[in-house]
Amino acid sequence: MQKKRISLSFLDPDQWFLNDQRETVLDTLVKNGIPIKQACINGVCGVCLTPLLSGEIDYAERQPRGLNEKEKESGYFLPCISTCKTDICIGKPKVTLR
Ligand code: FES
Repeated sequence: MQKKRISLSFLDPDQWFLNDQRETVLDTLVKNGIPIKQACINGVCGVCLTPLLSGEIDYAERQPRGLNEKEKESGYFLPCISTCKTDICIGKPKVTLR
């Protein structure tokens, strides 16, 4: 399985991690110590909302119910239920850890 790169634009210097599609984008971020808030891990609560700056993600058969139309149009996605379809670049998660 080909790994995809997740670039984090909000870190200085930029960092990137590999996502192997067996794990969600959220799992990859958490595993690498990136502070991101999570609750339902099921695409419902919207707490993990994160801007997708480039590339494509895949929800497979899961539904991003925690995402409203405005957030979708603004380019947000839910890392807890998505894997990388291509290399992606993300912005800072909307809800940050305190
Ligand atoms: S943790 Fe609830 S939608 Fe991602």
